[in-house]
Parts: sequence; structure tokens; C-alpha cells
Amino acid sequence: MKDQITSTEAIRGAVHSDLRHDSAIKHVTGRAEYCDDIAEPAGTLHAYLGTSDVTHARIRSLDLSAVRAAPGVIGVLTAADIPGANDISPTGRNDEPVFPTDLIEFHGQPLFAVVAESRDAARRAAELAQMEVEELPHALDPLQAQAAGYPHITDPLKLERGDVATGFAEAPHRITGRLNVGGQDHMYLEGQISFAIPGEDDDVVVHCSTQHPSEAQHMVAHVLGVPSNAVTVNVRRMGGGFGGKESQMNLFACVAALAAKKWNRPVKIRPDRDQDMTATGKRHDFVIDYDVAFDEAGRIQAVEGEFAARCGWSSDLSGPVTDRALFHADNAYFYPHVRLASRPMKTNTVSNTAFRGFGGPQGVVAAERMIEEIAFALGKDPLEVRKANFYGPEGRDLTPYHQQVTDNILERLVGELEKSADYQARRKAILEFNAQSRFLKRGIALTPVKFGISFTATHYNQAGSLIHVYSDGSIHLNHGGTEMGQGLNTKVAQVVADAFQVDITRIKITRTTTEKVPNTSATAASSGSDLNGMAALDAAEQIKTRLVEYAADKWGVDPAAVIFLPNAVKVGNEVMGFDALVKAAYMARVHLSAAGFYKTPDIHWDRAAGRGRPFYYYAYGASCSEVSVDTLTGEYRVERTDILHDVGRSLNPVLDKGQVEGAFIQGMGWLTTEELWWDKQGRLRTHAPSTYKIPLASDAPRIFNVGLAEWSVNPERTIKRSKAVGEPPFMLGISVLEALSMAVASVADYRECPRLDAPATPERVLMAVERLRGGK
Ligand code: MTE
Ligand code: HPA
Ligand code: MOS
Repeated sequence: MKDQITSTEAIRGAVHSDLRHDSAIKHVTGRAEYCDDIAEPAGTLHAYLGTSDVTHARIRSLDLSAVRAAPGVIGVLTAADIPGANDISPTGRNDEPVFPTDLIEFHGQPLFAVVAESRDAARRAAELAQMEVEELPHALDPLQAQAAGYPHITDPLKLERGDVATGFAEAPHRITGRLNVGGQDHMYLEGQISFAIPGEDDDVVVHCSTQHPSEAQHMVAHVLGVPSNAVTVNVRRMGGGFGGKESQMNLFACVAALAAKKWNRPVKIRPDRDQDMTATGKRHDFVIDYDVAFDEAGRIQAVEGEFAARCGWSSDLSGPVTDRALFHADNAYFYPHVRLASRPMKTNTVSNTAFRGFGGPQGVVAAERMIEEIAFALGKDPLEVRKANFYGPEGRDLTPYHQQVTDNILERLVGELEKSADYQARRKAILEFNAQSRFLKRGIALTPVKFGISFTATHYNQAGSLIHVYSDGSIHLNHGGTEMGQGLNTKVAQVVADAFQVDITRIKITRTTTEKVPNTSATAASSGSDLNGMAALDAAEQIKTRLVEYAADKWGVDPAAVIFLPNAVKVGNEVMGFDALVKAAYMARVHLSAAGFYKTPDIHWDRAAGRGRPFYYYAYGASCSEVSVDTLTGEYRVERTDILHDVGRSLNPVLDKGQVEGAFIQGMGWLTTEELWWDKQGRLRTHAPSTYKIPLASDAPRIFNVGLAEWSVNPERTIKRSKAVGEPPFMLGISVLEALSMAVASVADYRECPRLDAPATPERVLMAVERLRGGK
């Protein structure tokens, strides 16, 4: 037994330690390789989409002769060039053609692709199509769609518990209202992109910026009419996805692959930002009608809610998204009697899709609006009403979908934040300030979040991994998750480093590819580290078990006497380097590679019955925001935000804090300045950063205190008892909306709930102020 032992203290990059993102330096120095940075082989062609300039129409003819004749053009792709199925619906509903043949269903819909020697040539040529159409009437939002008798684009969901009629009849107070919640563009820094390289026979390799390589693979195979084993999809990293690359990459992957096979040359497609924003889906906007009954103490007795969503022209993921809105329409609150229904409306707009929170945030905003209504009606501090309605012990622990809430930590979490943010004293000071200040008004709000973790489609809750230990002791790590900036690869590498007790530098993080781990789920639903961390641990444990068996046998000790120390292994009384053990095991023909697997236990969901345990556990958080509003202009700013968020036992606190900060800001942007605006003709007029305002660094809270609930441990057996972090903190942004609401309400002495719709742009804030000042 030989070899040096590099450390006997602790490994570098262990789980639960603050380790920077594995690509942090590459990100900030511009050396991280994205899809567009992959060296293009000679002969690479470029595709661009030609889109419709009408909103709803029957196609009479599409004349592409000028497109074909344009300089640099190699050819065009239309529906007629699709050898397999002209369908990329992610749920198999067969309602999303790559290119339409008969009906145009939204303004900006891709109708064909041009393939040219350069991207510029393709882009110019795409403008030259001539078409004849017969225009049809259109419906752009859920209310117009309902009025026009449009169908549900997918089956609505109903959740029901208790006896709603009796609940309403017996309660002393009742309020009905309507809340409009806007959508959101993903505004990932790296837009959609795919780069396809043809191979022999049916083969094609597609480099695609996607959260769901397996889906892109299946779609490409489906559209090409070839088996999945002919198609490989790779992604090293995305420059952000936020849900926008869970299904929306399909079009680009398929167009690149179709063109690559048709012309037998590599083909890249990368829309510009305007086309990315007009042709790809966004967060669903909702119109929510609520009816809430409550008692003198502000305790909710009964709730009825109808959630109508703009789903766009195809179903895409609108079914599970609108389902999740209902799953979160309780947020943190117990509704003794409840009935909730979704209305997923087809509209003549781009197809709405996944976006951080996946419908959940829209449900949570509705719950918080009802709390506000109650607080203003009773003249109470909304925080008091929130606390009065938290899930509690038996009898107050059932969700509208009949899952028992057993892990609620909100009382402690909110209590701690209330103290650390000095909520009571600041609220008092703000009330005094507002009484004195004529035009500048302040508001403060402390809002909680409870978010269910697991894909609601139970079969998605599985993951795989592949680990190789090479004979030099270096480790190659692969798993089915994708990296979009959230730090998933770092976390999974930490898990593997911890399992082998080796420094993280020994572990090579590799691109996600359908060749190594098949049938993966989207990296979505915040479940990336929960699922892939466990799958990687499984693979590492398999290899470790073989190493232990080998060492025990070789050196004649009990397997329990083989212990992994930092970068070393103790076998009986002797210590050897990890490398030395690996080398010896290799020489003895021990298998040093393993495929790991994981599936979340104990979850089930019966959609028809509206009952089950769709979520393995809940993640919690709370935020407290203070805003100041200029009531003459409606302009506002966030003075201070304090956050306490629950990530269980954090795998990596510094990465988790980054997620919490980013999610809060993105949530705040959704509810404040990010406004999508379609004109009457159905044209999206906010299709570039010039007209669509995401938060700037200068919009961050002046004081921003973000903490993790360090005492929290996931009671379920998740990876190292951590909790998912990607989406839940998005809803912390709601504290800004509610703080704005308080500031606005102050102009009418808090007698009335301002019913601020989202996004609460300065214009909307000003209009609400004027309405309240006018006593209307
Ligand atoms: N963080 C960054 N930097 N970029 C992203 O695109 N996507 C969010 C969240 N955090 C995203 C992000 C969304 S929508 C999800 S579902 C999760 O990350 C997915 O990753 P995870 O499951 O590994 O947390
Ligand atoms: N969340 C996110 N993405 C999804 C889900 C979900 O619950 N279901 C299918 N895709
Ligand atoms: Mo996230 S919306 O689940 O990709």
C-alpha cells in the first residue's frame, strides 16, 4: 500500500459547503461554451423562420419563390418537407404542427424556414414570402375567448373539499372579486438555438439549448420519422431557461434537424430577440374570479375560485400549468370548504408555456389577494390575517387536493422574519409617515410561500446518472439534468465528491446527452438536484460497494473496516490513497462504471378524483418588502427586502442564496414592470427589451437581506435532507406587490382593498391611487 495522501482533514467541495458555480469564472470571462460557440464545421448552413403577419386566418396560398431566389438561399422548408409527423405537441395531443398547412393561429406564427449560406441571408430572405389568406375573427385573451365560445385547450381541473354552500351560508362575511395577473417573457440571456449535424443513415446529432434533451430527441425522431436511437441531443449549458426551454426548443431542434438531413449539411438556427419573443411561449396570464367567506377574526370559512388562463393556440404544457395554479391557490392557508376550477382557454396568441413556478405563482397571488381583501375589510394588519389562516394541526391540515400538510414550518419561519425585519415597528412607523406625508407614501408587507415539490405528472419523477471512475482515479460524472445557471452540476458533483470522499476537482462535469442517460425528464419543477443528486449518489454507491468488496477481500478485512477518508481509503489499519485503491481494483478487473437511478417514493395523484399526494414535500419561505410610492406619478421603488427561505439542509448555501435572490427579483419583475402587451390586431408590441422592462440592477431593493433557515432539515429522505430551491422563492416577489397595495390604500385611509392588478406598473399604481382618491 503506497501513494501520497493529499488530505486527511476534509475534502474540498463537500456537500453543505459554499462552493462557487463550477463555471463561474468561465461565465464572467466569456469562456463558457454555449451552443453558438461550438466550432462550426465547413459547410454549415443557417436557418431562419418566416412568420405570419396575420393573427387568425385560413391559408389560401403561400408563394415562396422570391424567398428561394434570394441571394445565398439554399432552399426552404415547409410542412411538405416533413418526412415524419408534422407535430411537436409535448403531451401528444397532436395540436402543434411544426408549420401549419391550413390555419394560421397567431401573429408571428412560424410558417416556413429558409436555409441559406449565412444567417443574414436567411434572415433577409425570410421577409420575402407572399401569401394569400382569408382572415378569421380572433380572440386574444381568456375573456374574449370565453365570449367567443372558444374551447378549453385541454381538460380543466376541479379541486373540491368540504361543503362550499354551507361554508358560505354560515360565514358572517363574504367578498367576491376579480384579479388579472399578467404573463411574463423568459428573457433568458441566451435565446433559443439549435445546431444539427447529420450523420450516416438516419443519424443526426443536435446541439440544443434545452432543459429537456430527451424531449427534443423524441420530437426530432417523431418529425423525421426515425427511431429515437438515431437522434442524439446534447447540451453543455444554457444561458438561462426559466421554463422557456422545457418544450419551446422543440421547434428549433426539429427545424435544424430537418434541414440538416434534407441537405446533408450542418444547420444552425438562432432567432433574433424579437423573433424569440414573438414566436415562443411565455408565462400564462390569468383572470381569477374569487369568492371568499370569513369570520370576524379573519379566518377563511369557504373559498370558490375560477382560474381562466390564456393558453395560446396550442396546448403545450397548459394542462399541467393550469393544474399547478389550482394546487397553489391555497398558498399557505387552510380553506375549510373549497372549490377551485381551471379554465384553460385557447386563444389566438403564441402558446403559453412553463415559466418558473409553472402556474403556481398565479395561484399564490390569488390566495394573497384574498388575504388582503379580508384584512382591508376588517381593518386588520394583513400579516395577522395570514397567520390566522396558516395550515395547522389535524383538522386544519388538508389541502384542496386532500394532501395532508405535515411539514409546515411557517409559524417559526415567519416569526423569525417578522423579528429580524423588525416588521411591527416599521409598519407602525410607516403608518405614521403616511399620515404626515401628502404625496410620498410607503407600504410594507410580509408574505409567505409554500410550494409543492414534485412533478405533478408522477412518471416524470425519475432520473438517471452515469459515473465512470478511470484507472487514474479521475471521475467522469454524467446525469440527466441540465445546467441553466442554477448550479445543478456543482451540486451533483458535490454529492459525488462526498460519496467518494474526494476533492471536487477530481470530478469532471460533462454535458448532458441522450446517449449517456436515456428517457430523462425536463430539468424543471425545481427537482433537478433532488432527482439527479439521488441518481448520481446511487451510481457512486454502486461503485463504492464494489471497491469495498474488493478491498475487504484482497486485504482480508471485514467490509465494515473499509472506510472512505478524505482522498484516501482506510482498509483495516492501513490507509491508502484513493488513486491507489482504484488502480489496484482496475488491475483486479473490478467494474468501475455504474448507471444510477432514482424515483421519488410515496407520491401518487388521481386527477379525475382530485385527490392524492402529488407532492413529496413542501418548500417554504417568507419575504418582507418595503416600498415608497410617489402618488403623483405612480413611480415607486423597493426600499428594503428581508427574506428567510427554507432549503432544508442546503447542499450549497451560496448557490441557494443566489437562487433565492434571483428568483425574488424575477418574481418582483413579473408583478411590477414586466408587461406583455398585444394590440387589437393581435400583435405583440412588447417584443424587445426596449419595450419590455425587466428589473435592472438599480431596481433591486436598496437594502436586501437574504437568509436561509439554517435550522431546517427536510423530514423526507431527500438528497442530504436538502430541499428544492429553483422556483419557490420566485413567489417571494409577491411581498412587493402587497407593499405597493398598502401604499396605494393609504390615500383612502386603508378603508378599501386597492385591488391592484399585476403587473402593478407605475401607470396601474397611479390609476389605483386616482380611483381611491376619487372615492370610486
Ligand atoms: N436559475 C438560473 N440561473 N437560470 C434558470 O434558467 N430556471 C429556474 C430555476 N433557477 C433557472 C434558474 C427554473 S424554472 C427551474 S424549474 C429550476 O431552476 C430548474 O433547476 P433545478 O431543478 O436544478 O433547481
Ligand atoms: N413542473 C414543471 N414542469 C413540468 C411539470 C411540473 O409540475 N409537469 C410537467 N412539466
Ligand atoms: Mo421550471 S418552470 O419548472 O422549468
